[in-house]
Amino acid sequence: MPKSAAKPFLGESPDPWLSSQRLYPPYVWSEVFGRSSPVEVDLGAGDGVYAEARAKRESDRNFIAVERLLGRATKIAKKAIRNQLTNLKVLRLESAYFIKNLCAKSSLDAITVRYPDPWPKRRHHANRLLQKEFFEDAAQAVISGGCMKLTTDDREYFEWAQKEAEKCSAWVPDLSWTGVDEPTSEFEELFAKEGREVYRKAWRKR
Ligand SMILES: C[S@@+](CC[C@H](N)C(=O)[O-])C[C@H]1O[C@@H](n2cnc3c(N)ncnc32)[C@H](O)[C@@H]1O
Repeated sequence: MPKSAAKPFLGESPDPWLSSQRLYPPYVWSEVFGRSSPVEVDLGAGDGVYAEARAKRESDRNFIAVERLLGRATKIAKKAIRNQLTNLKVLRLESAYFIKNLCAKSSLDAITVRYPDPWPKRRHHANRLLQKEFFEDAAQAVISGGCMKLTTDDREYFEWAQKEAEKCSAWVPDLSWTGVDEPTSEFEELFAKEGREVYRKAWRKR
């Protein structure tokens, strides 16, 4: 079978997909990307507008977009292929599982979380991504001096996440981060049109 018939979606482009079937062991990023460069992760990446912009702008860095919905993950993969972005990979998986089980110790430079699902009802708070256990797992995966960046329109979740971060001594607030250099994302555009307030916070790993 000709190569193009076996993988019609990819054509001659490098494959941006990481397998959602891989549940163990952690990845070796230099093998995944074929080079040793800083690795950043965008969790709940949506349609990948932000990850695509970062990968285009910073070709010297590697990016992984993690998204649980297949339709959205596929849009990210198409963006990587269309733009021949060899420094952008996409994984359809649950974010917390990915950080805990598929990221080796001190293997990430930064984690970005933009507009995470807020789960506003108290009885659903356990579903929130940014809770103590996640900060602890993320502290294992991120290098010393690396960072975690949160952008959200949900004030209550924003305050809740800060309290959860305080329970994990590995993270200290990075008061110098304003987020002004950050590219936009699909939900950022959406919420800007609605005139919603945006809350941003970064933490630095000790
Ligand atoms: C409100 S959207 C924000 C998307 C994007 N970050 C943006 O700023 O446009 C939240 C996204 O996170 C994804 N998501 C929610 N929980 C997730 C989880 N536990 N693991 C992976 N993706 C998740 C959703 O499917 C959705 O695409």
